[in-house]
Amino acid sequence: APFRLEDYRAPAFTIDTVALDFQLDPPATRVTATLSIRANTEEARKGRLELIGDEIVLKGLKLDGVAVPASHYIATPSLLTLTDVPKGPFTLEIETIVDPAANTKLMGLYRTSGTYCTQCEAEGFRRITYFLDRPDVLAVYTTRLEAEKSDAPILLANGNPVESGDIPGTDRHFAIWHDPFPKPSYLFAMVAGDLGVITDRFTTMSGRDVELRIYCEHGKEARCTYAMDALKRSMKWDEDVFGLEYDLDIFVIVAVSDFNMGAMENKGLNVFNDKYVLADPDAATDADYANVEGVIAHEYFHNWTGNRITCRDWFQLCLKEGLTVFRDQEFSSDMRSRAVKRIADVRTLQARQFPEDGGPLAHPVRPEIYHEISNFYTPTVYEKGAEVVRMLKSILGPDDFRKGMDLYVKRHDGDAATIEDFLASFADATGVDLSQFKLWYSQAGTPQIVARGAYDEAAKSYKLTLTQSLAATPGQSQKRPMHMPIRFGLIGPNGDDMDYASVSGGRVDRDIIHLTEASQTLVFEGVGGRPVPSLLRGFSAPVRLAIDISASDLLFQARTDTDPFNRWQAVQTLAMRNLVAGTAEQIAGRAPKVEPALIDALGGVLDNDTLEPAFRAQVLQLPSEADIARELGQDVDPEAIAAARTALRLAISTGLGDRLERHYARLSGETDFHPDATSAGRRALRNTLLDLRLARRSPDAIAAALTHFEAATNMTDRLAALATITQAALPERRAVLDAFHDRYANDALVLDKWLTLEATVPAPDTLDRVKALLKHPSYSPNNPNRVRALVGSFAGANQTQFNRADGAGYDFLADFALDLDKRNPQTTARLLVSFRSWRALEPVRRARAEAALRRIAAAKDLSPDTLDIVTRTLA
Ligand code: ARG
Ligand code: ZN
Repeated sequence: APFRLEDYRAPAFTIDTVALDFQLDPPATRVTATLSIRANTEEARKGRLELIGDEIVLKGLKLDGVAVPASHYIATPSLLTLTDVPKGPFTLEIETIVDPAANTKLMGLYRTSGTYCTQCEAEGFRRITYFLDRPDVLAVYTTRLEAEKSDAPILLANGNPVESGDIPGTDRHFAIWHDPFPKPSYLFAMVAGDLGVITDRFTTMSGRDVELRIYCEHGKEARCTYAMDALKRSMKWDEDVFGLEYDLDIFVIVAVSDFNMGAMENKGLNVFNDKYVLADPDAATDADYANVEGVIAHEYFHNWTGNRITCRDWFQLCLKEGLTVFRDQEFSSDMRSRAVKRIADVRTLQARQFPEDGGPLAHPVRPEIYHEISNFYTPTVYEKGAEVVRMLKSILGPDDFRKGMDLYVKRHDGDAATIEDFLASFADATGVDLSQFKLWYSQAGTPQIVARGAYDEAAKSYKLTLTQSLAATPGQSQKRPMHMPIRFGLIGPNGDDMDYASVSGGRVDRDIIHLTEASQTLVFEGVGGRPVPSLLRGFSAPVRLAIDISASDLLFQARTDTDPFNRWQAVQTLAMRNLVAGTAEQIAGRAPKVEPALIDALGGVLDNDTLEPAFRAQVLQLPSEADIARELGQDVDPEAIAAARTALRLAISTGLGDRLERHYARLSGETDFHPDATSAGRRALRNTLLDLRLARRSPDAIAAALTHFEAATNMTDRLAALATITQAALPERRAVLDAFHDRYANDALVLDKWLTLEATVPAPDTLDRVKALLKHPSYSPNNPNRVRALVGSFAGANQTQFNRADGAGYDFLADFALDLDKRNPQTTARLLVSFRSWRALEPVRRARAEAALRRIAAAKDLSPDTLDIVTRTLA
């Protein structure tokens, strides 16, 4: 049966303290949990207590120190039921055995490269001991770890270290950790193993001295320094921007190589997928550095938004995730270029969240029903959740937003809170009515805004009509108009924003139109000339905007808009119009036409040295094949899209001519590597120019790409050259891919990049190559990073080859998923999300995708994770 938001009931019992003792042993770890419990409700005082488990074996059970008689409890691997527990407080001691070595699901306690580690969010703690494994049961944890000294010299858990020592007469030792902050079980963590470490210190704003440690595999310590730097900057930023300070004596990060997700914010002991910790110039790209910085910040920021204030239930996941993504995006914007970060974030939102919102897996930012919560760690909850917080800030303004945040923290520190609590804090702190705004949390789908503008020369007035609509999504047929902040400007003939004397027809605060009705007509009086409307500046709401604007006005906007995001958007809109028309031309067998305004716009941005290089690189990157597919929305033919995009790139490359080489040469010659955003931006522009030049496929462009690869002094340049060569599917690709593999044969994280490049070559032999790579010694079938790099990239980023017309790509993914599902359901379910837009395909591919999905759905013994995704995808 599904879980429903409306069915929430407060827990019948409270658990005040948890003492855990781990006797670590790879196949049989003994866990003793001592819980102090008290009944919360009249119902509970009837004496029936149910604790949840998952694949665990009960070895012993004592109540207030006395063994519980067999007649008073029932234990299955997934449930422990006690029938006669006392009315008053009592202590329950539960002994369980778990097998970390056999745990391939990577939930609960498992082994990664010989290290013991845990992942408990969302429902992994129940794989360690029987518990009220739900986020609204907050307890104070004390953890004792005991292991063989040589096997696990490092013993870590949440909180502060209390005591450690040898077990006399044995080769074992122990450590005790105590976390004074009450927390839900999903924030529990322990790590034990033989690890390297780097250490540092941070003094908080009130003078607390905090020890910082990052653990990793021996030999990789030097690769942790950037993460440490990012951590210290995150700690400072949260104090400066939100007034939030760290609260324990020690903050520990552990990098592990087997991890289902990106990282985990366990109190005081963050566990990371090593790809979001390790970085050095030889092995990490600028994008990797930016990701490390962003994820380190994200997990650290959870200490307040997630840990000190947690979620009442899993429906409220966006309460911590949307808010924390918003916070990490703001942090990165302050560390780097705000405009470029915004463009990158919107690109990600549109590439990942928009297709989710427009397909069968659409769900509200706060879902109201789920079968398997692991499948709701989605772009909608995370990225759209962050957009909702950003809109809240736009509607309230920065000062009132901060007042609301302050009240939220003050009111709810120590609570398991809800979206209602969150919004009430902002409403109460500012007096603003947020009841209509709240619909953003409950209505799924991407709203469409249609804008129409008309200038009346005689009256000097500008009339702007905005209509909003929202299509039906699974389970929601009727939608209501929402409150949308539309940041805007009226660009005048000289390129500056024009003033106006007055406005009627709706509320406008400085540069924000508050769109609240299904349709609104705003009339601006006293407008000096015909304006070019610049709407949705900074992408102020996560919507699709359709606006009737000419190519020449878009070109003008690309040259003049004071909002850099909309300058980028103007060029993208021009390019997208061309690509949509070009795809139709491909299908009809007509020659593609190229809009000259587009080449002018791109050339203007390329030559404009007042614009930062990273921004120019973003403008020069055309919408992706997946972007075009999404824009088309139906009867998608990936081959036609790819051909149209290739044709447009050739036209642009030819149109820009030797300006590409000239700018490339100007940016060459930098040899020292600095990971800062400005240096990264110069590399991004230079690499974009190399790629655009190769669209011509001329011998000199090919030679330039090969030289770029050979001469590269850092991973960013090396990988960019490789991607250019492989994406062009040049015959030369085999030799460079092999050379790259051999150079990094011992570096798993770099080999992931190699696997991805192999899997994304747009050529008919790629599927066979992917199948062959499944047997390559550098691949590992149980490591989620390897799986995602090879199979995830093939299915998620190779539009033409995954969507082969013969259906072989779909069949491959189905076979692969059916096999992996037996070992790692979470990772399997995530891979299958690549099918989410199957209904938008042209009929032949659509039928083949559906057949593959139906074959998975019909398989016996599917995990709940995979069954849920496949069922909803087909519904
Ligand atoms: N809370 C983590 C983060 O976003 C994500 C962990 C989710 N893990 C999982 N297995 N569902 O930072
Ligand atoms: Zn998070």
